[in-house]
Amino acid sequence: MKKYVALLCFVVLIAFNTSYSQSEVKLNLQPGTPQLTISKHIYGNFAEHLGHCVYGGFYVGESNTKIPNRNGVRLDVVEALKKLKIPNLRWPGGCFADTYHWKDGIGPKDKRPAIVNRWWGGVTEDNSFGTHDFLNMCELIGTEPYLAANVGSGTVEELTDWVQYVNFDGVSPMSKLRTENGREKPWRVKFWGVGNEAWGCGGNMKPEHYANIYRQYSTFMADWSNSDRLFRIASGANSSDYNWTEVLMRDIPQHMMSGVALHHYSVIKWENKGSATNFSEDQYFATMKSALFMDELITKHSAIMDKYDPQKKIALVVDEWGGWYDVEPGTNPGFLYQQNTMRDAMIAGTTLNIFHKHCERVRMANLAQTINVLQAVILTNEEKMILTPTYHVLEMYNVHQDATLLPLELKSTDYTVGTEKLPAISASASKDKNGVVHISLVNIDPKKAQDVTVTLDGKAASVTGRILASATMTDHNTFENPDKIKPVVFKGAQLKGNNLQVKLPACSVVVLELK
Ligand code: AHR
Repeated sequence: MKKYVALLCFVVLIAFNTSYSQSEVKLNLQPGTPQLTISKHIYGNFAEHLGHCVYGGFYVGESNTKIPNRNGVRLDVVEALKKLKIPNLRWPGGCFADTYHWKDGIGPKDKRPAIVNRWWGGVTEDNSFGTHDFLNMCELIGTEPYLAANVGSGTVEELTDWVQYVNFDGVSPMSKLRTENGREKPWRVKFWGVGNEAWGCGGNMKPEHYANIYRQYSTFMADWSNSDRLFRIASGANSSDYNWTEVLMRDIPQHMMSGVALHHYSVIKWENKGSATNFSEDQYFATMKSALFMDELITKHSAIMDKYDPQKKIALVVDEWGGWYDVEPGTNPGFLYQQNTMRDAMIAGTTLNIFHKHCERVRMANLAQTINVLQAVILTNEEKMILTPTYHVLEMYNVHQDATLLPLELKSTDYTVGTEKLPAISASASKDKNGVVHISLVNIDPKKAQDVTVTLDGKAASVTGRILASATMTDHNTFENPDKIKPVVFKGAQLKGNNLQVKLPACSVVVLELK
């Protein structure tokens, strides 16, 4: 089989209507080309104590008899996330993380103090979902936990204790407490965020100040040689704040951090974000422009990191990304509940293709957020649960997880609105451990289909694929019609000698498999 997929080099020609050769993709796997892996961790998710992400989303409570659950965690969600293969899950925030005191969330549930979630709706939480609940849930889902620690309003001791509580196997005050609370063996959490958005809700700090604070917290989280191999992630820049990355890279010793974060949301205007479902083509265009800006952001932040870390030891961790719109009418503005349309599928497909392209530096990322918040993969309503178009894109794309990147050069036709234009096509390719090649293609143009010619250097015996598409870009799944948008078999790709002809419908995501 391998001989069929020895795609040493391929060219994709993309053309609209019958005029070919306007666009070109070249894939170069000449001997000596570095073999880069697309880390599965760029497919991470994010679960904040925000609206109905945790309470009412993941967790419905042990006493709930209407919704099947294990220890209060709903089982339909667990099954859906297993299928999605989410590699890591960030918790408990977000902004919430820098107000969260983890000791409030351990021990008998009826003894836990109630707290006020001051960032998100000012609601009172009973702390029934805490450290054990989250880490046990991660085991159930089969995902690695990524704990975001409280730096903004916490203490070094509090964080040091948390690390000891969840990770230490020997005799210590915190491991004793953990055992008393029902868990003898540590969970061994590897991923740790040292604060969140320290430039904003995490403390309104200047980068120089945060860099110092980071050094202090980071010192006491690990021993001198970091023998537990904690993956410590510094709170990163807000979108194009390149100075933030510069200062962190300059002022934090490299052995003290494994990753620097970056947050970027696809938003039209913060003061007028627009409806999630009822949007014009201009608004669609603006959202996609913001989503595609991720490529420039990563390129520029990476260039700064390259100056200090040419060997790329430190990962760029895009631990918040996704579309952000106005909340659904009638819902709590502090809960950030929004529907999810084909526009979100376009954001997901193009963003993941961008992450693949930069996989040497971007080795972890987290979609915001998993359930009922922002660009969710799952929406719930009491016992009902639906999967969003974004879910389906992540599921179709998970074939790229830990696969070898097949680098490509893409010259795409334009998607034009008025005087502005964006590349209509986004593409990515990888080869998995069995030698199977996957190509993901996105056509963001909501009106025009594209004819795509993939020229292969080497032969493939067969091509199969799946497509996610719908009649209009505002289409979405609802509790009444949960399967309106779902992947179906794609019959629009044909092998012709060394060429692959693909008919890519408007506003669609396709993943092809070549054997
Ligand atoms: O994801 C919602 C919020 O967006 C997070 O809490 C915060 O980190 C970001 O500003």
